[in-house]
Amino acid sequence: MRITTKKDNRKWISLAALVLQNTSLVLLLRYSRTMKAERYISSTAIVTAEFIKGLICIVLVWLENDRSINRLFRVIHEEIYAKPYDTSKLAIPSGLYAIQNNLLFFALSYLNAATYQVSYQLKILTTALCSVLMLKKSIEKHQWFSLCMLAIGVAFVTWPSPEEVQKRTTIQSQATWLQQSTGFGAVLLASMTSGFAGVYFEKILKTGPTSVWIRNIQLACFGTLFGLLIVFCFDYKAVMDKGFFQGYSTVVWIVVLLQAIGGLIIATVIKYADNIIKGFATSLSILFSSVISYFILHDFTPSLFFYMGTVFVLTATFLYGWEKNKVTSSVNEQARI
Ligand code: C5P
Repeated sequence: MRITTKKDNRKWISLAALVLQNTSLVLLLRYSRTMKAERYISSTAIVTAEFIKGLICIVLVWLENDRSINRLFRVIHEEIYAKPYDTSKLAIPSGLYAIQNNLLFFALSYLNAATYQVSYQLKILTTALCSVLMLKKSIEKHQWFSLCMLAIGVAFVTWPSPEEVQKRTTIQSQATWLQQSTGFGAVLLASMTSGFAGVYFEKILKTGPTSVWIRNIQLACFGTLFGLLIVFCFDYKAVMDKGFFQGYSTVVWIVVLLQAIGGLIIATVIKYADNIIKGFATSLSILFSSVISYFILHDFTPSLFFYMGTVFVLTATFLYGWEKNKVTSSVNEQARI
């Protein structure tokens, strides 16, 4: 009973941390885009975040092993080096994440933030589908209903206000149709890799005894290698011209750090909750970042759609969570009997 409570606490703490991390990342990214500064190469930012994530995980494994360097090396040797087949399994999600992260930066150069956020929420549905197919998770009819309600709600929340539509028409008249479709295609692909990679990682994490931090070190090793390959293929010349860390202002470093910490939080959310609940947490953070944009940054005016979307997102979240609690408590009830 005590173990369940502790696990529940970790679940809610990790979910709250994800909402906080995601909200600050979205806001900071918006801020960094409005700043006039030298451009940084996004593919290098992804590699740096992966590398930092790996380093943080090594420190966490060291802490878990009584701060002993010898034990740290032994664990890494036993769990990673001596199990090449098990380690190689992580190449799949990490390769997909490397492609996904680059696709999203690519998409953001062609689509505005609102369109990007709306279309990327498709990942909630691909995640649910992959959870059913790969984890044999059963999703009740009303839970599918709440998932669809969530997707529609997020679409409403991020729907642009009339002034934004006005602005966008001017921009759109300059942008070519091909560019828009390329951006949308990139988001579609990223939604698919997000669902598959997330559920694949969840399966690996929940079907073996290996710790979440070791799994993340494995993920970070492959992620750094794949990321470097992408830098080499697409940005080799730019890196050679002006260096790997060109344009890395303080804000960019904070964004990189938030991305690295985000990876760790997502891993704990996947361990203690699941990928579908993760989708709800990120949707809430879209809501929060819009509210903060309105009250603090004053760069957003809520429309009727925004209020409607808020009601949809909150209702869907409670609907999904309420059913989960009901199922959990009835299972606990049965276990007690
Ligand atoms: O959008 P989505 O939720 O699929 O994004 C997952 C993000 O979390 C990716 O940027 C991925 O690199 C990162 N991640 C991570 N470590 C994990 C799981 C995900 O860095 N263990």
